[in-house]
Amino acid sequence: MRGGNLSGSEGHLLESGLVVPVCRTRKPSSFSPPKPKFFTVRRSLAIRAMSGSPAVSLKEKEGTPKGSMGSLISTDPPKGTRDFPPEDMRLRTWLFNNFREVSRLFSFEEVDFPLVESEELYTRKAGEEIVGQLYNFEDKGGRKVALRPELTPSLARLVLQKGRAQSYPLKWFAIGQCWRYERMTRGRRREHYQWNMDIIGVPGVEAEAELLSAIVTFFTKLGITSNDVGIKVSNRKVLQAVLEKFNIPVDSFPAVCVIVDKLEKLPREEIEGELDKAGVPSNAVEGILKALSLKSFDDLEALIGAQSGAVAELKQLFALAEGYGIQDWLHFDASVVRGLAYYTGTVFEGFDKDKKLRAICGGGRYDRLLSTYGGQDTPACGFGFGDAVIVELLKEKKLLPVLPHVVDDVVMALEDSLRVPAAGVAARLRSKGRVVELVIEKGKKMKWVFKHCDTLKAKRLVLLGSTEWDQGKVNVKDLDAREQTLKTVDELIEST
Ligand code: HAM
Repeated sequence: MRGGNLSGSEGHLLESGLVVPVCRTRKPSSFSPPKPKFFTVRRSLAIRAMSGSPAVSLKEKEGTPKGSMGSLISTDPPKGTRDFPPEDMRLRTWLFNNFREVSRLFSFEEVDFPLVESEELYTRKAGEEIVGQLYNFEDKGGRKVALRPELTPSLARLVLQKGRAQSYPLKWFAIGQCWRYERMTRGRRREHYQWNMDIIGVPGVEAEAELLSAIVTFFTKLGITSNDVGIKVSNRKVLQAVLEKFNIPVDSFPAVCVIVDKLEKLPREEIEGELDKAGVPSNAVEGILKALSLKSFDDLEALIGAQSGAVAELKQLFALAEGYGIQDWLHFDASVVRGLAYYTGTVFEGFDKDKKLRAICGGGRYDRLLSTYGGQDTPACGFGFGDAVIVELLKEKKLLPVLPHVVDDVVMALEDSLRVPAAGVAARLRSKGRVVELVIEKGKKMKWVFKHCDTLKAKRLVLLGSTEWDQGKVNVKDLDAREQTLKTVDELIEST
């Protein structure tokens, strides 16, 4: 990838997505960012890389002087993945801080799992898309492993591992990167971060109500209202009741859920074909589709009876929602089934009311996942909330925050002999919690320093010059007020 360094030259440097050609090593004191220098062909390749053109082939490097450069790589990250340059990283950190803050408000504890898990954790047989999208491979020890496509199986594994030693219920949250080899659409990528909140050990819908309230708290914190977003809620027991009516074996239930979840994506005949293969007779298909079109509790009661567990749970959940004051956000919609096989009860999905984006978040109850891994049935429910769709929504709603890189003080020694005390001043300011940019470059002029302060939006400039330093003082420029004062270092530290 990168050619060996040859005397007087460095390998290529990448900056702001621009492929910058090799620059000869200069003395550190006069170093400035390398500029495109040698060959017009290189420059045009760099521009092409920025405009998203395909990776450049080696052949195109004709004109490269022998031995001065490594081969030119594509500067794009692998398809469907992202780099996080500082401005994107600030946004990600802000988002994650909000995830963490909401989880903390609900008294959840943070957990984490490995990015690479045993493949068997995911190879469920209900025909879920997620299984076909696995990034799986054999490691060097011949073990079949996969990059995690979601966090729930890892969480289940950890719960099993900790066993009954824990005091239940467990309220855990996690923020982690997930990998799915997906077809890419707006907000859907091959890697994404997910915020998960899960409650283990509570069988009643009080748990779901807490989770839904946490999601709404998060939306509200970001300035999103129930005019922008809704959460469709249903219960898989609705479908289960319909299947029971038609004497369809319980074993087919997960597969049937996965199939009907594709109703909006696939033509009706294809769904019917798949249901047929899963052992659902054609007379039951009509009943299933009718159940999924229901949007009111009255209609639901008429179809599956008021005594049904699904109706009771849904009604109780909506009553609790009133208590939390989140009822405006929730919509009963029987068409929500969710594409993961393990859900057993309540299921829900956050959606944008302009219908421009894919699901913002989704979750539900999965009381039998632990037993599929050899443990005991354990009541559990939770949700996953991706980092990509929400950013698209914030863009749409013009709610993206302005997140500058904040610097309090720029400290600079005006002479080389004052670098040691300048480092001391910076250290003391930092110990007070100030964000300090110490000028470590050599030979910088005042014009550059002021421009640098401006770029960093620094609040103060602290200059160490020998005349003032000999009197035990530093020159402090308040950059907003445009005032300048001489202070001892103690005075400077006290005034922060
Ligand atoms: P999921 O619906 O597959 O559920 O994913 C949850 C959320 O992750 C989605 O609503 C979306 O925000 C985000 N997401 C999923 N795939 C992608 C992708 N390819 N690109 C961008 N964002 C994506 C689960 O994963 C369940 N494990 C959630 C859960 C936790 N259920 C119970 N506990």
